[in-house]
Amino acid sequence: MKKIPVIIDCDPGVDDSYAIALANSYPEYEIVALTAVEGNVPAVLTRHNCLCLRETFDMENTKVAYGATVPLVRPYFREESVTHGEGGVGGIQFPQPTRAQEEKEAWDLIYDEAVKHNGELVVFAVGPLTNIATALRKYPDLPKYIKKFVIMGGGTFGNVSKTAEFNIWVDPTAAKEVFEKLEVYMVGLNATHAAAVSIEDFDEMLEITAGGKNKATEFLHKLTQFSKDNSFGRGQDNNVIHDALAVAGEINPDTVKYEKYYVYVEDREVENVGETVVDLKGESGKEQNCWVAMDVDQPLFAQVIKDMCKYYAEK
Ligand code: BDR
Ligand code: CA
Repeated sequence: MKKIPVIIDCDPGVDDSYAIALANSYPEYEIVALTAVEGNVPAVLTRHNCLCLRETFDMENTKVAYGATVPLVRPYFREESVTHGEGGVGGIQFPQPTRAQEEKEAWDLIYDEAVKHNGELVVFAVGPLTNIATALRKYPDLPKYIKKFVIMGGGTFGNVSKTAEFNIWVDPTAAKEVFEKLEVYMVGLNATHAAAVSIEDFDEMLEITAGGKNKATEFLHKLTQFSKDNSFGRGQDNNVIHDALAVAGEINPDTVKYEKYYVYVEDREVENVGETVVDLKGESGKEQNCWVAMDVDQPLFAQVIKDMCKYYAEK
């Protein structure tokens, strides 16, 4: 069976790690690359975490490429990430990775893989969109080589401000350009919050991964323990496994229901900078350009995540 080539552009990240684990567990996917972007933690850490996650999940055929260290225009000064813990992945210590990154930068690798796979490439972008926007600036014909482009970002409400979601807010210039150039499947906060997992879901995940039969399962157990402990309190929302929902929607299309709308990104320094403005009523008269995740099946999403845990636990 010919597998579907996939690139995950990410800033791991606790929920990014779940997204990578999930995509890697899906037999129809070949993860050709992880491309690291600045975001949840500085690029030096997201890069390191991509290298470590590749080895944790035995992704021998996956390349890792380094991408942007800063957003395109707007400076972003990061504080410690409470949501993602020390180092960016729940404070979990990895062994030193044995394989290095590619010599190519993320945007060159994305383009070369897209051309190589001749229009079959699926891209998940679950961090700020700096790498993707850079690829599109450098290679204007990139869209014709991408089969499907799914992001976690945006939505109809915010988490950094009332209106802006983190990934879009970090680099609104990049996001604006990406939305103008690619048909985006947008899994935003309205969808990810509706798919939040429960304490009972976490307990089942912990039970499945208990005993750590291999390094992937051991890692997922620790990640889930961190996520459970870091949920359900003030400012703690690790029960919302945002990035994995973007992947789940592709693996099991009943998980996420999309509707098409015109969406633009506010990139000016105004109150709602970083908002993905969704024209829900069609008032702009503009052509619909974006598939917006509007409905989710929470029990199904939780099941997809538990099945992923089983996949590793039974390996
Ligand atoms: C998004 O921001 C990050 O903290 C998560 O990894 C996710 O991609 C949620 O707003
Ligand atoms: Ca992320």
